[in-house]
Amino acid sequence: MAKHATPKLDQLESGPWPSFVSDIKQEAESRAKNPKGLDYQIPVDCPEDLLGVLELSYNDGETHWKHGGIVGVFGYGGGVIGRYCDQPEKFPGVAHFHTVRLNQPSGKYYTSEYLRALCDIWDLRGSGLTNMHGSTGDIVLLGTTTPQLEEIFWEVTHNLNTDLGGSGSNLRTPADCLGETRCEYACYDTSALAFEMTNEYQDELHRPAFPYKFKFKFDGCPNGCVAAIARSDFSVIGTWKDSIKIDQAAVKAYVAGEFKPNAGAHSGRDWGKFDLVKEVVELCPSEAITWDGAKLTIDRKECVRCMHCINTMPRALRIGDERGASILCGAKAPILDGAQMSSLVVPFVEAQSPFDEIKEVVENIWDWWMEEGKNRERLGETMKRLSLQKLLEVTGQPADPRHVMEPRHNPYIFFKEEEVPGGWDRDITEYRKRHLR
Ligand code: HEM
Ligand code: HEM
Ligand code: SF4
Ligand code: SF4
Repeated sequence: MAKHATPKLDQLESGPWPSFVSDIKQEAESRAKNPKGLDYQIPVDCPEDLLGVLELSYNDGETHWKHGGIVGVFGYGGGVIGRYCDQPEKFPGVAHFHTVRLNQPSGKYYTSEYLRALCDIWDLRGSGLTNMHGSTGDIVLLGTTTPQLEEIFWEVTHNLNTDLGGSGSNLRTPADCLGETRCEYACYDTSALAFEMTNEYQDELHRPAFPYKFKFKFDGCPNGCVAAIARSDFSVIGTWKDSIKIDQAAVKAYVAGEFKPNAGAHSGRDWGKFDLVKEVVELCPSEAITWDGAKLTIDRKECVRCMHCINTMPRALRIGDERGASILCGAKAPILDGAQMSSLVVPFVEAQSPFDEIKEVVENIWDWWMEEGKNRERLGETMKRLSLQKLLEVTGQPADPRHVMEPRHNPYIFFKEEEVPGGWDRDITEYRKRHLR
């Protein structure tokens, strides 16, 4: 018999999608039975009280977590999101319900052995509930008490060789698309870059030293499987600068219907026979493709590397061999002054281990933003306030037409004094000699 009646949540156990309610109930039941005879370090009925407080929130239409919470582990300034229930007498199992962020491996590849070991720690010292994974990438251990934090930290570092993730005004946990591990579009080793940057900047990740949060994300190509352009202040997106490789025989196989367009992604519906002209040539945003019925050609200089033709005919068209990445900056959610996606800063950068060129850009930006950024001002907002031009200066990027979608239309143009013959110091009496009042 469950501890609390949850008529509303019970309705979410029906339907085909995996029900989080059924899963939490299952965990509650398992803890009650305690098949391994564990000496649970937080209340056994923690998951039941979580369902209880959630049902109460469903009834009231409002949250029942108190404001904020500052907890953590010695040595670090972040990694744990403290949280307390505002009805602790009613739901003592979730009076403390802190969340621990653990740094996930690049691409989120695991062995069962690792996950079992992690679950063993969490079963004993936490709620048994998780989020796989947080939006930023972390493994999220959902719900424990303050006295368990150092215990968990000791166990994950000593037994799992795993560190906490980031939280607060610092570098957050970096994340990447799975890249070269199993994608033919990957223009660099995203996993290697994510791993390298996470290790290089551990100090910035664990001890907040920034005006506000800062995120890295690494996409292997413009398809954006980790959505770097929208969800990271510093977005690295793979690309190439030579020609798309064309296998003419494979193009013909697509035309003949032997290969499925988009690797069969639209096979759930009848879209008719593959039409190369309609589905590829005419959809190329720069009209860079020609098909004469026997041969497909691409005007390399006009191609913007949007990925459309490659996505449509992955067996015939391949990314070029001169690979690297673009760096874009400033993505953020709406608060305070509006949502931003990242803006292009470095059109093409080498992306080979140990990724020194990329680190240099990062550190130049941090040098600037850590001094000039206002309190709780994201990089994107600092760019708006102090200008893209300033960002280009501090990163040593010569201005380039690729830095803009279009030139400005207003004439409020600032010149540097040294660019203007004679400078700004002018004498009105000199002027009056030529122009009487
Ligand atoms: C040698 C004579 C003149 C010169 C060199 C001159 C120059 C200029 C300049 C540099 C601007 C600014 C454009 C901008 O900021 O985009 C301007 C705007 C303007 N001028 Fe003149 N101007 C002269 C005579 C006049 C006269 C005689 C009038 C009216 C009786 C006049 C009316 C205006 C107006 C209304 C604008 C504003 C246009 C706008 O903001 O869209 N100007 N002028
Ligand atoms: C009581 C009289 C006037 C008032 C209250 C007034 C007010 C204004 C205002 C509010 C602006 C816009 C400023 C901005 O966009 O930041 C403006 C612009 C301008 N005014 Fe006047 N104005 C007056 C008289 C005049 C006269 C007599 C002239 C010319 C003979 C004149 C020429 C201009 C011009 C050329 C601009 C455009 C400046 C620019 O585009 O940069 N104004 N005025
Ligand atoms: S972003 Fe590109 S390289 Fe990375 S997984 Fe997606 S399609 Fe592949
Ligand atoms: S990648 Fe995009 S822009 Fe380039 S040729 Fe293919 S469809 Fe055209």
